Amino acid sequence: MSLRIAASATAIVLGATLASGAAMAQDAEAGEKVFRRQCFICHTIDKGGPTKQGPNLFGVIGRKTGSVEGFRYSEANKKAEITWTPETLDPYLANPRKVIPGTIMAFAGLPKAEDRKNLIAFLQTMK
Ligand code: HEC
Repeated sequence: MSLRIAASATAIVLGATLASGAAMAQDAEAGEKVFRRQCFICHTIDKGGPTKQGPNLFGVIGRKTGSVEGFRYSEANKKAEITWTPETLDPYLANPRKVIPGTIMAFAGLPKAEDRKNLIAFLQTMK
């Protein structure tokens, strides 16, 4: 009897975990599309990918501004001393020039919060 209760409780917890995992995977999938449309022209995101106009973004979450070897960052980016996390990326992706005045990233920003959330979910998978 108690075993059965324990088993069904486990099933509920497992179900909830799978559901949130699936939601995150969906966000990341939508975010990959945003990346292809808005960022890929200037950034690669595969491990060891080449520099384009911007630095490679593999593993960008948890990295400090200006830390890709060999990429010629602006002084503004190098001196920004920001660690990229979902919390710091959201305002940056909404308006890069507001967060790092003087950045050479020629990108106006993603106005839709939903696009930024999905994109960040995708960036989190690329590590
Ligand atoms: C027109 C080209 C261009 C586009 C489009 C672009 N970027 Fe960038 N990005 C750059 C450049 C150039 C830099 C370096 C900025 C500097 O040194 O001031 C940069 C820097 C960054 C950085 C900081 C990296 C670091 O190591 O400090 C992040 C994060 C970033 N871009 C994410 C994105 C995302 C996500 C998108 C899509 C929404 C995007 N960028 C679109 C050119 C671009």
